Amino acid sequence: MKKILVIHGPNLDLLGKRENNIYGDETIDDINKAIQKSARDEKIECEFFQSNHEGDIVEKIGRSKADGILINPAAYTHTSVAIRDAVSAKNIPVVEVHISNIYAREEFRHKSLIAPVAIGQISGFGKNSYLLGLKALSDIINKK
Ligand code: DQA
Repeated sequence: MKKILVIHGPNLDLLGKRENNIYGDETIDDINKAIQKSARDEKIECEFFQSNHEGDIVEKIGRSKADGILINPAAYTHTSVAIRDAVSAKNIPVVEVHISNIYAREEFRHKSLIAPVAIGQISGFGKNSYLLGLKALSDIINKK
């Protein structure tokens, strides 16, 4: 079975308690459960990882044996050359997702350093951003 690594960046551990008007009421566990369920349907194995630390995310990507990565880099989307370089070096398909529509928010969120090295980006669909991203990624990995 093919395997994907799901990475949640900084402050996403606070989902459900954090700016609910923007990020909704669901917790990271709720989102992971929904991803796990969809992954089963796609015959994909999932590993979940959340960190508030840039270097830990860089190392997790570098050491991963997964066939693809689904990542919400959160605030590091807009700042992290290190995570971009880790994604770029990895040479496996990476899909970037965001709960909110980053283009409808403050200008500093309009730029993603990760998007140019990802296969694509899904932004603005709440929990469904992850599920749509998973579907896109698993089709690529399973070569559908
Ligand atoms: C986010 C959008 C980012 O701009 C923000 O820093 C986050 C969450 C999202 O999922 O909408 O922490 O990645």
